[in-house]
Amino acid sequence: MSNVVRVGVAALAACLLIETGAALAASADNGKKVYMAVGCWGCHGTVGQGGVTGPKLAPEPLPYEAFSAFVRTTNRAMPPYREPVLSNSDLADIHAYLEAQPKAADHKTIPLLNQ
Ligand code: HEC
Repeated sequence: MSNVVRVGVAALAACLLIETGAALAASADNGKKVYMAVGCWGCHGTVGQGGVTGPKLAPEPLPYEAFSAFVRTTNRAMPPYREPVLSNSDLADIHAYLEAQPKAADHKTIPLLNQ
């Protein structure tokens, strides 16, 4: 194999690795866009803090399995979101967005609450 071909093959392999890595990692940025676009924010608040119509979801959402099972199949007050309207990768990104929200400070670290 010539050196040129060798370098070409190595570059191609590197590109493939980068592509797969990106596809597997859930994106909180995209999750935020989808969360706003499909209307989760309307009931659960823009950062998942909860509201009058929906419970708090962030910063510690249900584990992904339970989260996705709920969103796909719920038949209570919340409408179910099935795959044709919300893809699995977009749902995983929403989960990443909720997980990425900052946690509230521990009350023990706030002097006023410890007097
Ligand atoms: C019309 C209001 C509404 C919208 C829109 C909505 N939800 Fe909900 N959601 C609720 C309500 C109300 C509940 C409480 C359970 C119930 O009664 O269905 C809930 C519960 C949940 C739960 C279960 C929380 C728990 O701790 O048990 C998850 C997860 C969830 N919603 C995620 C989502 C996601 C993700 C979206 C957007 C794709 C969304 N919801 C859109 C109203 C809504």
